[in-house]
Amino acid sequence: MKIAHVLTLIMVVLLVLLAGIGFKRFQGDVQVGKLLAENNCGVCHDMTPNRKHGKGPYLWEVYNRPAGVVDFSFSPAFRKLAEETPFLWDDDHLERWLINPVAFIPNTKMAQHSKDHPVSFDGIQSSGNRKDLIAYLKSLR
Ligand code: HEC
Repeated sequence: MKIAHVLTLIMVVLLVLLAGIGFKRFQGDVQVGKLLAENNCGVCHDMTPNRKHGKGPYLWEVYNRPAGVVDFSFSPAFRKLAEETPFLWDDDHLERWLINPVAFIPNTKMAQHSKDHPVSFDGIQSSGNRKDLIAYLKSLR
């Protein structure tokens, strides 16, 4: 093989590898998302088919589910928005919710501490982490 051929081959292999990594970032990594969800959401949300509510509603099959339809005592602020302007938990809405729930729904219970539950959720700042989380939420079915 000529040196030029070898170099071309190396370039092609590198490009394919890079495209693969880029595609993964674009798609979100379900395994990373699972770890992030266990650490950031699991204290309040059940993400198993058991469908048990915690401080927050269960998240099984949440992807593309209409907001606020499960039998959970949502905050008045959440319920009002979900009734007046119904929406689905698609990529765009999950992205807005996870970057900063209070900016999406002021007074949402998700961002509030309470006496019996001193943990609250302030948002996920890393866009890569949000993508991985959303990829994981999609897989909950
Ligand atoms: C401190 C507890 C807490 C944490 C941590 C938390 N949530 Fe929540 N979540 C809630 C509460 C409470 C609600 C209901 C909000 C309301 O009624 O205002 C909620 C609502 C939701 C909803 C709406 C569900 C529906 O059926 O409409 C989604 C989606 C959601 N959370 C996703 C997440 C994700 C993903 C994470 C982690 C990145 C997370 N939450 C972290 C407490 C939490």
